[in-house]
Amino acid sequence: MLSQKLQDALNAQVNAEMWSAYLYLSMSVDASLKGYKGMANWFAIQFREEQDHAQILINYLLSRNCAVKLAPIAEVKTSWKSPLAAFEDTLTHEKKVTAMIDNLCRIAAEEQDFATANMLRWFVDEQIEEEENAQDIIDSLEKVDDSKLGLYMIDKELAQRVYSAPAPLTKE
Ligand code: FEO
Repeated sequence: MLSQKLQDALNAQVNAEMWSAYLYLSMSVDASLKGYKGMANWFAIQFREEQDHAQILINYLLSRNCAVKLAPIAEVKTSWKSPLAAFEDTLTHEKKVTAMIDNLCRIAAEEQDFATANMLRWFVDEQIEEEENAQDIIDSLEKVDDSKLGLYMIDKELAQRVYSAPAPLTKE
């Protein structure tokens, strides 16, 4: 059985992942309203991925016979002044999530909960990718600056992103 401290921390992470999903859905809606269809697609997929992250944690809690508490999801921002601003907020947010995952790993290690530590390894790797993806897009947006053609090209590229379910949800 997981300690209460770990159960509470994992439940808080479920809420954080759902808040992330909500944030990216809001970015997707905002991008769509402003005519950036590719960016709207990119964030819509991010929205799905964050729900997957919450589901992975929920499945784990259930598999360990622990309670799942679905707390209210706090309000999110609804408008960004530019594509660059949205992706900068994305990177800042993902860095916070990385710190939260690191904290979960710390608790699991302190409690010598090897099963939970093992489950969390997927999230540790995922956060490297999450930060790298956001940074790569920021780098591209900074290169084109305010060029309309540049933004058009990047938007076309972001339209290519496709959803694929994460490994922990496909092997069940
Ligand atoms: Fe669930 Fe974007 O990390």
